Formats: sequence, C-alpha cells, structure tokens
Amino acid sequence: MTRITRAVIPAAGLGTRFLPMTRSMPKEMLPVGRKPVIQYVIEEAVEAGITECLIITGRGKRALEDYFDRSDIGDNDENARLDKLIDRLDIYFVRQKAPRGLGDALRYAEPFASGEPFVVLLGDTFTRPSCLPTLISAHARHRVSTIAVQPVPEVLLSRYGVVAGAPCGPDELRVSDLVEKPGPGEAPSNLAVLGAYVLTPAIFTALARARPGRNGEIQLTDALRVAAKEGRLVACISAGRRYDIGDPVSWLLANIELGLADSETGGAVRELLEELRTERSRDGSLPVQ
Ligand code: G1P
Repeated sequence: MTRITRAVIPAAGLGTRFLPMTRSMPKEMLPVGRKPVIQYVIEEAVEAGITECLIITGRGKRALEDYFDRSDIGDNDENARLDKLIDRLDIYFVRQKAPRGLGDALRYAEPFASGEPFVVLLGDTFTRPSCLPTLISAHARHRVSTIAVQPVPEVLLSRYGVVAGAPCGPDELRVSDLVEKPGPGEAPSNLAVLGAYVLTPAIFTALARARPGRNGEIQLTDALRVAAKEGRLVACISAGRRYDIGDPVSWLLANIELGLADSETGGAVRELLEELRTERSRDGSLPVQ
C-alpha cells in the first residue's frame, strides 16, 4: 500500500466566534504559545509523514501564504524551527471562491489528491496527542476512509457531525450513518466528528453529487454518509485533548497547555497557576487540599 504523503488543510472559515480579532486576521493565525495554530496543524501532518500540503483559503486569508515563506532572519529558535519545517514540505494554496461549506472547499483538492488517499486536517484545530497516526494505520488495515471521533457531552453535540456505527476493532466503529449538527433528539450517539480524516478519492464523486445541506452549505458529512452506507467508513475513537482554536475558551486552554509545555515559557506559566491557586484557596473560592 502506498504511503499517504498529501494533506489538505481547509482554512477558509470566517472565524465569527473570534470577532473582532478576525476582522483583520485569519483565525488560523491566532497564536497558541509562540506559534500560530496553523503551524501546529502542519507540524502534526509532517510528523505523520506528510510531505505536501494544500491549504484552502478564501477572503482575508493572505497572511497564511506569507507565513510559510522562508524568512532566514534566524534571530530566535522558534523562527529557525519554522524555516526547517518549511524545508520539509511543499505547500500549495487554492482559494475557495465563496464560503459554501467544508464539503465545497474540499472539492478544490481533487487535482491535488491525484487519485490517492489523503489526509484532511482543519486549519484551526489540533489534538494532543495527535490522532493522525491512528487514522492512517486504521486506513491501511481497513482500506477505507477513516475519521476521528470523540465522546462529547449531549448539549454540545449540535456543534458537530455525529456518527452511528458498530464496533469493528478496539476503539473503532464501522460507521453506518452520520448526522451534521443534529437538533435535539436527532443525534445517533454521543460520538462527535473531530475534524481529522483520511479520505479515499471516492469522496470527490460524492462531493460532486452533494446538494446544500445543514446551513445551506455543501457538507463533508453528507458525502461521508455515502461511504458509510456502503460500509466504507471507519471511525477511530480518539482520547486526545482537542483544541478548536476558533473557539475562545478552547484557545485559552490550549495556551495554558502549550505555554506549560514550552521550555521557555513553562516555568512562568506554572508559577502563575500556582500563585492563583494559592490565592483562590486563601479567599475560599477553592477548597484547601
Ligand atoms: C465541521 C464538520 C463537522 C465536524 C466539525 C469539527 O463543522 O462539518 O462534522 O464535527 O467540523 O470541528 P464546522 O466546525 O466547520 O461547523
């Protein structure tokens, strides 16, 4: 089986949850620790063996292209690390003509995929640890499209695609149906689609046939349902912490985890957290342990 070397990164979403920040910057450029979120996504792809990325952009996203030029200024470690990352892959860009949904954006990736299976990672979302190695190995075993899912509380299911299916391996389901952003009582399970996928090129045929779905957009979920009905879709249950940086709460929490993990900033973040904890224990808002 050929190795998967191409990743498609949809980054055309409008970022309305992060207004006013996203009036003049792409949400994918929001910093998490010392790097923009798109860099975590590309690093995750490269770690999994990806050597070519196609970033799907749209209006207001030009900063993404500039970011991935080599800078060679090299005046700090992080900047030099980005130049090294850029050397490890080729990055292509295509503009979605209008914001017509994730499924519509992915249609632009057909020539890039060249008839081979490919990875899709959302440009504003990453999981720690990455769910990509699991998705790629499940794809190699089952030879079908694979998607990452995770249990989420019932009240949050309406934000996601939600799957139904039967176990077909440890932490794996053969998907029989998917519902995009289910209303009350419509969710077929509590397993939400996280936004990481390995797709076979058959997805493009389904996307070409897809009609506007939820919110009047072309939904990837509707195209995936075609694969599910043929028994050709496997969901891998991920235990990683997922950060959707377009969401302000998730962005803050990601900054804490990544700020702690960074050798340059970790000490200061830890100190502040300990100080706040002691203060809150003292004023009674936290129980003393
Ligand atoms: C998209 C997908 C949805 C998935 C979600 C993960 O929705 O359509 O199935 O659960 O990403 O973030 P969006 O977040 O673009 O509304």
